[in-house]
Amino acid sequence: MKLKNKVALVTGAGSGFGKGIAINFADEGAKVLLVDINLQAAEMVAKEIGGENVIAITGDVSKNFDVESMINSSLKKWGKLDILVNNAGTTHRNKPMTEVTEKEFDEIFGVNVKSIFLTAKYAVPLMKENGGGVILNVASTAGIRPRPGLVWYNTSKGAVITATKSMAIELAPYRIRVNAINPVAGETGMLHLFMGEDTPEKRSEFVSSIPWGRLSLPKDMANAALFFCSDDSEMVTGVCMEVDGGRCI
Ligand SMILES: NC(=O)c1ccc[n+]([C@@H]2O[C@H](COP(=O)([O-])OP(=O)(O)OC[C@H]3O[C@@H](n4cnc5c(N)ncnc54)[C@H](O)[C@@H]3O)[C@@H](O)[C@H]2O)c1
Repeated sequence: MKLKNKVALVTGAGSGFGKGIAINFADEGAKVLLVDINLQAAEMVAKEIGGENVIAITGDVSKNFDVESMINSSLKKWGKLDILVNNAGTTHRNKPMTEVTEKEFDEIFGVNVKSIFLTAKYAVPLMKENGGGVILNVASTAGIRPRPGLVWYNTSKGAVITATKSMAIELAPYRIRVNAINPVAGETGMLHLFMGEDTPEKRSEFVSSIPWGRLSLPKDMANAALFFCSDDSEMVTGVCMEVDGGRCI
């Protein structure tokens, strides 16, 4: 049990990578707070985990009020927050950059980037008081090896990578570690948007760009997240690690 007595908050925990990460953390003994804009999805994951050590709440990670409430929920229920996983994310459908609307741009930066600012605002003071903590941001290979048609999504993930390193250097003296994982295209709810259309041809085009020969899976991110959020990585901070089957080589 690598996370016994730890309290973890996972955003976007209702599906995909977030769900995989939350289930793995619960299996490793953590008390887990599942946050998702889709409450029903988060509640289904909570049911799957079962027991006293999980709660599901609704919240939009791009909204100040919601983020304050989600961090307070952890405090109220378990008295602390040890681990924060900023996983919730969104994208525009694959299309030429000039066709992305201002509304889509604002939403992408709200959910993917502003969320990290907001969660830090409320979680970092708690972690400092508690003598330390761990933050894991889910960035993307898109931030370092961009694909065409996803310009503003790629840009938002570049910002997540820079935020991760900047936060790590500022927070190290407080024993707060900040790392990121960069997943390659994965089998989740967002995949059809990245591909533009979910056809066998598009899938094989994406798979052929990954030397390991398959798309990523929630369990791949769950295993990497466990390493970064447990004491196994006590000396590791400011790292943005590809979990990408060699896509970025
Ligand atoms: N799937 C991929 O190919 C891929 C590749 C690289 C990075 N990522 C990143 O992985 C993360 C998880 O995405 P996923 O692939 O598991 O997709 P997903 O669609 O399966 O899961 C995303 C979850 O986030 C929730 N969410 C969306 N907006 C939210 C908001 N404003 N507030 C709270 N919750 C919100 C959704 O309801 C959903 O449950 C994202 O940050 C995404 O950018 C995905």
